[in-house]
Parts: sequence; structure tokens; C-alpha cells
Amino acid sequence: MTKDTSTFSLFNPETERLSDDQAATELAHLATEIARHDALYYQNDEPELTDAAYDILRRRNEAIEKAFPHLVRKDSPTHKVGSAPSSGFSKIKHSVPMLSLGNAFADEDVAEFIARIKRFLGLGKDEEVNIFAEPKIDGLSCSIRYEKGTLVQAATRGDGAIGENITANVKTIASIPHQLNGTGYPDVVEIRGEVYMRRDRFLELNANQASTGGKTFANPRNAAAGSLRQLDPSITAARPLDFYAYAWGETSEPLGENLTDVRAKMESWGLPVNPGQLCASLDEILGYYRQIMTDRPDLNHEIDGIVYKVNRLDWQERLGFVSRAPRWAIAHKFPAERAITRLNQITIQVGRTGALTPVANLEPITVGGVVVSRATLHNRDEIERKDVREGDSIVIQRAGDVIPQVVEVILDKRPANSVPFLFPDHCPECGSQAIQEDGEVVTRCTGGLICPAQAVERLKHFVSRNAFDIEGLGDKQIKFFFEQGTIKSPADLFRLAENDRKSLTPLRNQPGWGRQSVENLYNAIESKRTIGLDRFIFALGIPQIGQATAKLMAKTCGTLERIEEITQLAHDPKSDALQELLSIDGIGASMAGDLIAFFNEPHNQEVIADLKAQINVEEFILEISSDSPVTGKTVVFTGKLQTMSRDEAKAKAESLGAKVSGSVSKKTDYVVAGADAGSKLKKAAELGVKTLSEEEWHTLVRQ
Ligand code: IVH
Repeated sequence: MTKDTSTFSLFNPETERLSDDQAATELAHLATEIARHDALYYQNDEPELTDAAYDILRRRNEAIEKAFPHLVRKDSPTHKVGSAPSSGFSKIKHSVPMLSLGNAFADEDVAEFIARIKRFLGLGKDEEVNIFAEPKIDGLSCSIRYEKGTLVQAATRGDGAIGENITANVKTIASIPHQLNGTGYPDVVEIRGEVYMRRDRFLELNANQASTGGKTFANPRNAAAGSLRQLDPSITAARPLDFYAYAWGETSEPLGENLTDVRAKMESWGLPVNPGQLCASLDEILGYYRQIMTDRPDLNHEIDGIVYKVNRLDWQERLGFVSRAPRWAIAHKFPAERAITRLNQITIQVGRTGALTPVANLEPITVGGVVVSRATLHNRDEIERKDVREGDSIVIQRAGDVIPQVVEVILDKRPANSVPFLFPDHCPECGSQAIQEDGEVVTRCTGGLICPAQAVERLKHFVSRNAFDIEGLGDKQIKFFFEQGTIKSPADLFRLAENDRKSLTPLRNQPGWGRQSVENLYNAIESKRTIGLDRFIFALGIPQIGQATAKLMAKTCGTLERIEEITQLAHDPKSDALQELLSIDGIGASMAGDLIAFFNEPHNQEVIADLKAQINVEEFILEISSDSPVTGKTVVFTGKLQTMSRDEAKAKAESLGAKVSGSVSKKTDYVVAGADAGSKLKKAAELGVKTLSEEEWHTLVRQ
């Protein structure tokens, strides 16, 4: 039960009538009381006071402190920024990152996947690469750690690097053993797989929830997610979850030579392993895909494609990863599900770089178990090409998590009074001219900094999952703060708590915000005052600079200051800095142009300076071994390599901490020359750069 203000009395009259002694006594009392109520509220979820009554305590404390500044206590409640840890799960850093998968949609994509692997490994076209194919389970990935055979920890994927500690919940899943069978397991083994809910159990759960007035779920995946992320494990225990193992993370010793061996071992330890099939050719792979697609409606769990994995683990190791996905695996998605519905209205959305995107607002319809009410129309040309009009009946499709798309218009059903859609030539948000440059597909608002829609989108991007990842700041909240005027620029985020505490209309008193949600938000923001350089660069929302390029810049330059310096110097087209920027493998002229433009723009410089005063951008530290002989060295590969493909050479060098450049300069440490090396070898000789044969390179890095 919480008390209301009416039942709560203030013990003392006006502050100014207090003596020093009385003030000190009351401040001591308030510090203890407020701390006690914080604990009741945050840790026990059992508040005794209403928010209003609690606020009276805090305000009384603040008023006395203001009148008696010399009596402010060390443990004063006003000094505590979000006094309690935010509720929720503790965080776990994955010892081996949990990655995602690249996608294939057409058969050709799968053929290209196999061809790429062969090229990378330097295999002949006719050489066999065994591929293990297995269904892609539509659930939530989870990493379960066993030490000496005992389940000790379980974590969600999170952002791949850090997940949430869900050990207690995972222990309630019946198919997951608490103790592995036999003795053949390594001391440490992390089993990775998917937590999911079977279809029949999902239907039962929903029926049950509906009859007891509980929340029903849109699909089994949501039900599994909602059940797994329960703070109270007894709720998870009552939900019918299942698990399939398909991969692993850290292990104290190698698990085997092939995927098939490891799967057999996992089974012998008592783990439920996702069934699949070993395939020796593209035909077999595609045959399995079609077989499972036919069986799909009869399966008792949802799948959204087939995952193909190279069976040989030494090959997996050599193939390694690109960005966040392995080169040795791919997800072949099932075709999108389609439906017919009415397009009620076309609206225009303005993105963070000013792109005007038309959106089809639909008569809501269920496609593949999800209610869809909006679909993207991409751009002006797409609308013209398909002649999509308001009032049309259209075919839409939805594949996985992708935004639903408009496939075609059903012309027979077009209303007689229909008119072509007129794409706006002004930004619907700020009224500035919207133009489509020659050769561009996108129409852009020219309003730049004055366009509120762009500002809001930039802020949304800044706090998004792969950027600052601030929990509790969704689209709705960002819009709210922007419209209120409290957050106009990214640095305002970090002043929010301080300004709000001074405000006469604090957030906690506003509709939709409770004291706890406000404190949680402050804590979430506070915890992001230190941020990795790659995330920071990505968060800036520089056109064309996605996660991979942001990471590349971070890796190459190391510090924010160096990135600022190089991009500012590179403004001069004759500068060495520009050459250096362009020599980064993966940065082309167009990206370099966007980076240079961004960092030379005075407003952007102000935004960054303002942010730097609030936060600490960490130096980029490579996660790879720092003791290899080529760590930090710049390497150029040239000529025809015999023992490895160019891609493999590059990937290997990078995994050892080297930078791979496409051109030779004074800064190059090694030029590795294969057969018929030409101008680069000559340049190396001119500049006195050390050259290595392929063999010498192998000897160097094998040490
Ligand atoms: S293998 C290095 N196998 O799909 C990544 N993943 O879209 C190894 N998933 O994050 C993943 N079923 O959560 C693999 N049979 C399967 C899977 C599977 C579902 C999930 C997994 C991953 C996501 C990628």
C-alpha cells in the first residue's frame, strides 16, 4: 500500500525558522528516510509512499539544504544521481561475441556463397565443400555456460558483445539440462542456441491468458521473448519454453574437427540439438531447403529459413568473420509472405539525412502472423513505376523483420475516380524545397539544420541500439523531448537529468512518466557517458557511414581527435591526409567526401565539442592479440598470391592487428609480393619499404 499526501504530514514548519541544530537533525532524518524509501521502491518493489509524498520529502530536503548550505551532508539525497541501480537484469560480457548471419534470398545467392568460400580458401571449382544445413529457428538466441558439466550462467545475445543475465530463467526450461551427461565434456563449454515456444504450447498459453484476462501474444517468438525476459523466474517457469542447440562460444578445448562431430557430442551430453542434414553439393542444399519449406506448415515450431554452415571447423576458422557475420555460414530465408489490402493514404517521412520516403498507410491486415498497417514505397520513382495511388488494392509482402513492401497494384480493382499520386516538391515538415538531384533516386529536403524532422531523426539514430543504445529512449520519448525543447542536440541528453531536477515542471510529474521510469532513464543516460569510438562515429549519423565503416575509421585512427584531424586536413585536395584517408581499404572517394564534409561543417564541430564536454569517447582498442609481429603495422599485398586468396590474406593480417592498405607509401611497413608484382613493388623499393615473399610473410606471422 502506498500512502498519499493527505495521510502524510510534514514534521516541521518553514525552513527559515529552523535553528542550525534542528536543520541538521532534520537533514539527517531525511537522508535516512529517503534512502529507505529508495530501497523500498527500487530493490523491493514495495513503496510505502506515493510519488507525490516522496517528492515532498525530497523538496523539503532541498529547501533546508538551500537555507543551510554549510549543513549539506556527504550522503545528501540530492547528490545521488539515480540512487539505485536500474531494475532489470545484470549484464554479461560474452567471452566470444554472439554474431548474426548474412542472408541469402535467391538460389543464386547460395551458389555465390559457396563460390565465395571456395575462392577464399583457394579451392578448385569442382572441389567438394560439405555444408551442414539446418532450419533457422524463429526464437531468441541464448548462450548457456557449463563449467565442469554444471550450468552456471545463461545470457541473451544483447548487442552481441554484452547480453543480459537470464540464468535463473533459463534454469526453468525443462529441455535444458542443469548437468551434462557423461564425462566427455570440456571444463568450460558455452552452448549456444535458440529459446523458442512450440506452436501448440503458444496457442494453449494464449487461450489461457485470454481466459484469465492476461496479455496475449502476437506470435510464438514474442511469447518466447516476453516469457524469457521476466524478472520473476517463477513466471518463466510457468511458460512452456523449449531450446535447440546449434552453436557454441567459449570452450576450454576444441570440440572436434567437424560440425557433425560436435553435434553428436552435444547430443551425448543430453542437449537438444537442432536437427539438420549434411549436404555435399549445391543441389543437395537446395533440395533440403525445398523439402523443409514443404514441411514447414506441419512443423510444431516457427522457422524462417535454413542456415548453411561449412562443416569443417578448420575451414570455418580460416574463413573467419566479416563485420558481425561469419563467412562460413549464411541464412537462406524463406520467401516473403504476401497479402492483399487497401492503401488508404500515402504519407511522407523525412529521414535523418533529409530523404523523403513515401509510406503506404494500409487497411490493417495479418501477413505471416503479424498485423501490418504500413509499408514502404521507397521513393518517388518507385511510386511512378508502379503507379501506386491512394485507394488502390495492393499486394504487400513481409519477410522476417524487414519493413513490409508494396509488390504491385491490382489494377482491376482501381476505383474510377483514382488520380496519380503527386510527390511533394516541398518538405512536409519544414516547408523547405525538396529536390531530387540528377542521377539520384532520393528526393531530399534542403532544410538541413532548420528541419525539425531531420533533427529528431538524427537524435533517434544517436540513441539507437547500435549507437549509444540508451534504454528507455524510444522514438516517442525523443519526439516528446524535442517538442518540449529539452533535447535539441545530442549533448542535451547528458544535461537532461540536471536540468530536469531544477525544473519547475519535472518530468516525473508529467503524464506518462513515473518516478521510477524517470530515474531509470537518467541512469541509462548516465551509464553511457563513456562510449567506444566506433559507436560514437556511427552515432553521429554521417551519410554513408554505417557500423562497419565507423569501426574501420575507429580502428585505423584510434582516437576521435585523430579522426577530426585527418578529415579536417583532408579538406585540402592536395593534402597527404586525403591520400591517407583514401588508402584505407574500404573508404572510397564518395565516403571520404562525406566524412570530410561532416567534420568540416562548423555546426557539426560545435555539436562534437559540446558532446566532448559531457562524455568520454574511448580510444579504440583492438580486440585481437596485440603481440603478433604485425600488430599495428601497415601491410600491402600485391601480385598473384599462391597460398591464399587476397581476401584471406587481408582477413588474416587484420585479425593479427595489421592495417591492410591498397597503396604503398612512406607509412607502409611491409609489401608482400606474389608473382608478377609490378608498380607497387617498384614503389616499395624506391621508398625503402621492406618487401616480403609470401613464404617470408607466413614465417613472420606464424611465430
Ligand atoms: S548459427 C555465428 N543456426 O539466427 C552465428 N543461428 O540471424 C551462428 N538462429 O543470431 C548462428 N537458428 O540467433 C544458427 N540453426 C541456427 C539458427 C540460428 C536461428 C539465429 C541466431 C542468430 C540469428 C542470425
